[in-house]
Amino acid sequence: MRHAIIIGNTDGIGLALTRRLLSDGWAVTGLSRRAAGLEHDRYVHVAADVTAAGYPAELERACAGAGRVELCVYAAGVGDLLDLDDLAAQTRAIEVNLLGVARTVEVVVPRMLAAGGGHLVGLSSLADSLISPEAPGYAASKAGMSSFLIALGAALRPRGVAVSTVRFGFVDTKMAKGAVRPMMITVDRAVDVLIRCLRTRPAVVSYPRRMTLLTAALRPVSRIQARLRKR
Ligand SMILES: NC(=O)c1ccc[n+]([C@@H]2O[C@H](COP(=O)([O-])OP(=O)(O)OC[C@H]3O[C@@H](n4cnc5c(N)ncnc54)[C@H](OP(=O)(O)O)[C@@H]3O)[C@@H](O)[C@H]2O)c1
Repeated sequence: MRHAIIIGNTDGIGLALTRRLLSDGWAVTGLSRRAAGLEHDRYVHVAADVTAAGYPAELERACAGAGRVELCVYAAGVGDLLDLDDLAAQTRAIEVNLLGVARTVEVVVPRMLAAGGGHLVGLSSLADSLISPEAPGYAASKAGMSSFLIALGAALRPRGVAVSTVRFGFVDTKMAKGAVRPMMITVDRAVDVLIRCLRTRPAVVSYPRRMTLLTAALRPVSRIQARLRKR
């Protein structure tokens, strides 16, 4: 039986993907701070915080309990809008979104290499290319995450381990904040994209296409605007 570990699956994209994999016959271990509310004979939940000192050990135990892990999806994420009275929230985005994925890699990749293969998928964002005064920690964490995973993927591919960096625009979950959310897709659509990614194992997936083009066009604008911003 194929076994997946989904990190960050209490709700949102991680939960919807967990449900889809279970209905496709996978065994799934989910990991997040709260329970995912799933009852299934092929599902195990591990309550853990990716920023906690004990996280690598918890993940190690979860991997050992699962046997061979063919797939690991890093779907944990936070992203608060900038509040100058709570700069810790910006640090938290970097801890969860960027350091969390690096700590996950430390545990999961050696196991995949030892097993002769595997697939690591990280949910980054089209925001990875923007300078964002509205959410600096989030944009920086996603820039780092994409750079880290794309580079890691290039190094690991000859060793049989695939790494896919998935860059969504807006997906209809509690994460998608803000009054304007152009070209937002449903969670089901996001899961369809992920399922295709599991089959084809590309290095990078950017979706939807029109939002990808728009973000690419906004990239230089966001840099100039940040520099010229007036008091
Ligand atoms: N929604 C969008 O518009 C969008 C767009 C592009 C990219 N993404 C990315 O896709 C990923 C999933 O987003 P989503 O929309 O599904 O968000 P979501 O609905 O807010 O879900 C986030 C998940 O992360 C888990 N999580 C948060 N902090 C954690 C921690 N410290 N330790 C362990 N788990 C933690 C949460 O569970 P607990 O709270 O129980 O821990 C939850 O299951 C994120 O990385 C996000 O940046 C989302």
